[in-house]
Amino acid sequence: MQNKLIKIANDTNFYLKNFIKKQKKTELISAMNYGLFPGGKKIRSKVLLDVGILFKIDYKILIIIGAAVECIHAYSLIHDDLPCMDNDNLRRGKPSTHIKFGESTAVLAGNSLQTMACEILTSKYLKTDNKIKINLIKKLSECSGHLGIAGGQYLDLSYEKKKISQNKIIEMEIKKTGKLFSFCCMVPAIIKKKKLKEINSFEKIGANIGLLFQIADDLIDFKGTSKIAGKKTKKDKKKGKATLISLLGYKNTIKYSNKIKSTIINDLKKYGSNSKNINETLNYILTRKK
Ligand code: IPE
Ligand code: IPE
Ligand code: MG
Ligand code: MG
Ligand code: MG
Repeated sequence: MQNKLIKIANDTNFYLKNFIKKQKKTELISAMNYGLFPGGKKIRSKVLLDVGILFKIDYKILIIIGAAVECIHAYSLIHDDLPCMDNDNLRRGKPSTHIKFGESTAVLAGNSLQTMACEILTSKYLKTDNKIKINLIKKLSECSGHLGIAGGQYLDLSYEKKKISQNKIIEMEIKKTGKLFSFCCMVPAIIKKKKLKEINSFEKIGANIGLLFQIADDLIDFKGTSKIAGKKTKKDKKKGKATLISLLGYKNTIKYSNKIKSTIINDLKKYGSNSKNINETLNYILTRKK
């Protein structure tokens, strides 16, 4: 698994570096690069490739779409760390982008990475027909805006220091993190122009994978070390974040995460042995330390 992630990260970073190199240089590029590279685990791209295998989609196409997803993800992390949001000064083992470049530059670099995702999806290097590109941009926008990341981040902040129900916490985690995984899981079905029902079914699988991922992130915050995680830990409790751990406790949260994992595996059963890559990714998500 680790080797697969390293290969995906290398291929994605190589693509992104070349893409940026071809653009006219601006003052924001350094801060954008700083937020993008050396980059994180590329787990969203791994999920995209895992589902891509089920539909026999070309690797290069998936790497390019994954690069767009990683731009959105990197932007969301830059903004997540801002003083007006989580106010964190350590990310991926180095000072957060706003610590290094200042707040306004971090905001603008984040904005630029978000729109760069659309530049990547509309570029001539992505070899799919225009109708597919439009559908991809539509879905990615939905998953990133008020119905997805931004909306979820809003809820995350507004729930601080309040008692929030389990369903509301789950809804918030699916929005802020799950929706981008939904996009990754829908992409192959969109490319193959599958029926809405199948696309929706992958949207649900993705939401659960993302929920599982966020729960694991919350568990790392609770139990992990900053040195390994590359970001401050034990911060959710300090900020009074509404998480399943704060509501149900550590042990029950682990139980719940195993339940979600079974749901995902069950939903994927009809794809047979082809889904073994996703199963490997699910195990990684739950056992990871960073
Ligand atoms: C961290 O995401 C933020 C969450 C959505 C939980 P990742 O853990 O994927 O961050 P990187 O990209 O590996 O740094
Ligand atoms: C971040 O969740 C979710 C998004 C960036 C959309 P967290 O706030 O828990 O992420 P970390 O722990 O700071 O990486
Ligand atoms: Mg946050
Ligand atoms: Mg945070
Ligand atoms: Mg966290």
